[in-house]
Amino acid sequence: MSIHIPSSESIAEAARVIREGGVVVMPTETVYGLACDALNDRAVARVFELKGRPNENPLIVHIAGLDDLPKVAESWPPIVEKLAERFWPGPLTMVLPKLPSVPFQTTGGLDTVAVRVPDHDVALVLIEESERPLAAPSANPFGRLSPTRAEDVDPELAAQVPMVLDGGPCRIGLESTVLDLTSDEPRVLRPGSVSRADIQAVLGRPLGSAPPPAARKSPGLYQRHYAPRAAVVLAEALTSGQAGLTFGEPCGPNQVRMPLDPRAYAAQLYNALQRLDAMGVDEIRVVLPPRGEAWEAVHDRLKKASAS
Ligand code: TXA
Ligand code: MG
Repeated sequence: MSIHIPSSESIAEAARVIREGGVVVMPTETVYGLACDALNDRAVARVFELKGRPNENPLIVHIAGLDDLPKVAESWPPIVEKLAERFWPGPLTMVLPKLPSVPFQTTGGLDTVAVRVPDHDVALVLIEESERPLAAPSANPFGRLSPTRAEDVDPELAAQVPMVLDGGPCRIGLESTVLDLTSDEPRVLRPGSVSRADIQAVLGRPLGSAPPPAARKSPGLYQRHYAPRAAVVLAEALTSGQAGLTFGEPCGPNQVRMPLDPRAYAAQLYNALQRLDAMGVDEIRVVLPPRGEAWEAVHDRLKKASAS
């Protein structure tokens, strides 16, 4: 695996790879992404192939700021500018009508595009230097854990890309909140660290309460996802012989003490699961975190990681 410390030279080299239609791994504040030119359908097809991702599952397009929105979105309601002012750069992805120049390969055949501005200097400089909007799904084989450190990128996947830019551990650690703004009723399609309450405070009204859309319309909603190789089992407590994530003092080996703060928990979750998985355990038991809105994204990922 070719891990590069970000420097003006290595980022310029990664930007060249992208302009030539290649794929690199880049850091963001949420998780590492497998990045390519979002407007190049062949490059995007390669990303799907590398991940083993179903073609109808659309990618998020990363831009450097609100000023880049006209490069990918056809139109947007005025609230988008307020949301961008509050949350960009940051882990809020907004789904908007796409421009014809954004290939259907990128959007999984949908006429909408999901856009965000990552809050990570390496990603922002890479977008600017490549002079392209970057399509970037999480840099993991389909269905597996998203990497939150360069060394957590699946070695087989990393071996197939020319460069992995190492931006250190991801500050947030869970994928962005995905917000659909294509109807009158804005709706959260995927919970993340930007909470419903955060969004509602900007909207000045409640989010849509429509039933969850069909898998086709909101393709991130596969039942099993974000999963290590080991089976994940949600539990009330761990016994000494069990591997897993717990709160408080561990009572056996292969147990990781997790923080009781939801943001700190999110930042460590995937790396903790990955470490236990790498030890070859068959089962990872996860002591359930508290309920409450601040934990929604964590519960969402744990539920998907433990689905059979
Ligand atoms: O934090 C993140 O969002 C990371 C980093 C790399 O930016 N990316 C990420 O990408 O998590 P990915 O491909 O693993 O997840 C993209 C999610 C999926 O749930 C997908 O269905 C949804 O965004 N999505 C993308 N385009 C969409 C669209 N046009 N309509 C509805 N959902 C969309
Ligand atoms: Mg993903």
